[in-house]
Amino acid sequence: MSVWHITGGRRLSGTVEVQGAKNAVLPIMAASVLTPGVTRLENVPELSDVDITMRILRGLGCAVEREGDAVTIDSRELSRSEIPHELMRELRSSVVFLGALLARCGHARLSMPGGCELGPRPIDLHLMALRALGAEIDERAGELICSTPGGLHGAAIALPLASVGATENAMLCACLAEGETLIMNAAREPEIGELEGFLKKLGAEVSGAGSATVRVRGGALAGGFAGHRIMPDRIVSATYLAACAAAGGDIELRGAQPRHFSTVLRSLSECGCDIIAGDTSVRLVSDGNLRAPRPVITGPYPGFPTDAQPLLLAACLKAKGTSVFVENVFQNRFRFTEELQRLGARIHTEGRVAVVTGVDALHGAPAVATDLRGGAALVIAALSAEGETEILDSGHIRRGYARLDEVLRALGADAAYTEAKGA
Ligand code: EPZ
Repeated sequence: MSVWHITGGRRLSGTVEVQGAKNAVLPIMAASVLTPGVTRLENVPELSDVDITMRILRGLGCAVEREGDAVTIDSRELSRSEIPHELMRELRSSVVFLGALLARCGHARLSMPGGCELGPRPIDLHLMALRALGAEIDERAGELICSTPGGLHGAAIALPLASVGATENAMLCACLAEGETLIMNAAREPEIGELEGFLKKLGAEVSGAGSATVRVRGGALAGGFAGHRIMPDRIVSATYLAACAAAGGDIELRGAQPRHFSTVLRSLSECGCDIIAGDTSVRLVSDGNLRAPRPVITGPYPGFPTDAQPLLLAACLKAKGTSVFVENVFQNRFRFTEELQRLGARIHTEGRVAVVTGVDALHGAPAVATDLRGGAALVIAALSAEGETEILDSGHIRRGYARLDEVLRALGADAAYTEAKGA
């Protein structure tokens, strides 16, 4: 078990270069197997989720090398289309390989990705979309055994809900499905637009990302070489801003895209923070004395991002008044609030609603990171608590944050991270 030691009470100041987006790089790494060729990605964050994806690619027969923040993937020797159970368990979002492997190889075998700390994580919409494109998928003994006996063909896919992963899986598979595919009620997250941009570099005919309908005209892809710089991570950006809002201070994010998290900026402004946003930077100034924002209601993009809900909730623990959070995307995304209460927070949860009553002070205490963003929420609370907080973390935070301890120390925080042996 890794451990974070954070002693709160210090203001944060300085600049942060925002890391590449985890939720953009994972589907793009999967897309690299669509066609034999070499892909060079830049601004790839050093995250355990990325490490696992590199292991998956090597297991498929690809050559993968990292040099600093660049990762090169050579998929010309791809020779397998199975992802082993242990890697699927470690990274449930690797289900996004399914569409790409079916398109490239005509078959694929993965174990069912498990649920996670956020509740059940069904993939019925992924399977519905891939079946519409011609895939035959046998769900047997916890495995997905997939083939395309009649080949892949374009389809009109209407998603009952705007699932990010299902949209990505359908886009990847449709690239090599003969004819036109329409993905309706598609997810509109910025990461979908990033994926479209990369697919176009492979020679795919994709349009409409960011709108409710994505259109793909399938056909052979050029292959060869594709270079791409990963967009900045909007949730990591929100994390640092929420930390500064809670602890007080003056920080600037560089290499950010504020328009991708404008809903979060609006809530932080309602809390009383001063925010100066440019095209690729955003500065936040806070005296640490916040007031409750208007109710935060999460939803598919362009709504308030569910991944930022724990972050803003943690920043509001001492905000004057009552802060209300409604979680509409995941069933069980308030488990982390039990850990925040160990630091003296006053939070009442009822189903999809959490009500935070601002307290005068938080006090450091031992706590456990329950999931990736719940762990980040604990870090934010610890930065604004009196005394030391020790956070036990089984690796959740490293999944999404590169060198978080170093960044926080550079901003003036008293934060140390001890990785467990063999983590
Ligand atoms: C992506 O997960 C992100 N992960 C999540 O970020 C993010 O919270 C989520 O999108 C929503 O924005 C990656 O991109 C790797 P969904 P995904 O499919 O694709 C239900 C983080 O912290 N659903 O949009 O799994 C599902 O249960 C992570 O970085 C079905 O019912 O999200 C959920 O309630 C956490 N059937 C809702 O849709 C399906 O087939 C949204 O899920 C698929 C999803």
